[in-house]
Amino acid sequence: MKVTVVGAGAVGASCAEYIAIKNFAEEVVLVDIKEGFAEGKAMDLMQTASLNGFDTKVTGVTNDYSATAGSNVAVITSGIPRKPGMTREELIGINAGIVKTVAENLIKFSPEVIIIVVSNPMDTMAYLTHKATGLPKNRIIGMGGALDSARFKYRLAEALDCPSSDVEGMVIGGHSDTGMVPLIEKATRNSIPVSAFLSEDVQSEVVEATKVGGATLTKLLGTSAWYAPGAAVSELVRAIAQDSKKMFPCSALLEGEFGLNDISLGVPCVLGKNGIEKIVEIELSEAEKEKLTSSAEGVRKVNELLD
Ligand code: 2OP
Repeated sequence: MKVTVVGAGAVGASCAEYIAIKNFAEEVVLVDIKEGFAEGKAMDLMQTASLNGFDTKVTGVTNDYSATAGSNVAVITSGIPRKPGMTREELIGINAGIVKTVAENLIKFSPEVIIIVVSNPMDTMAYLTHKATGLPKNRIIGMGGALDSARFKYRLAEALDCPSSDVEGMVIGGHSDTGMVPLIEKATRNSIPVSAFLSEDVQSEVVEATKVGGATLTKLLGTSAWYAPGAAVSELVRAIAQDSKKMFPCSALLEGEFGLNDISLGVPCVLGKNGIEKIVEIELSEAEKEKLTSSAEGVRKVNELLD
């Protein structure tokens, strides 16, 4: 498995690091536009190989897409990140052009590549990648739900005073402060609904803290987060590399699923060697359906800005 990560900033570098450390890929190519930056990050990372015990070969290049040729998976993290007080949607003007050019360059050298879009506003950037490339829908995956679900599990574990590994929960909908739909009714601790342990007020607090998870970190860090985004991407790449058929909420192009069309939105997806192998149309309660529909409306408004 050869993986390209475009953008050697904090998210891209963290993503490359987790993929290398998890040791499932032969090769990771980091690409950045800043002269020498990806080369430096790759060299620094490679110098941890003997310490961390991985065999993945990590290289870096400055804007040279020929080095990415034959990639099975490419991750797009390029563009500007959020600053405190900014929404993900405000990044569209700059990031749309960057994401489109990057996707076209990737496909030129890796016609079979599966693209994972991370740049924000992510659902719109994934939709744009579909429109700009015309790739089959299984080969464009927006990464947001896997990260938001990890943040949901963190908040649930905190409220339940238990390890995250005790908790199951999923966030669907748009990757935005207002669009996320944490499925609290379906969240469990060791298969027991969390409503057995948490009051309605605490459940609402968990949901709200999850939705602003990225904004909370942006305020603390002065820029957007990287460890959890990088780790979340690495798990999607691993599911593809190992053809594991693991289910993650991903932003997928919808063609009637959940009653939605012509939109890329976070829904449960089974990932395997072909990328999105199945969109799983889980049964939603009326309240969940309403939230998903309103989330889709929010994403559509941002998509309209692409014109
Ligand atoms: C986040 O939520 C970067 O959108 C990403 O942290």
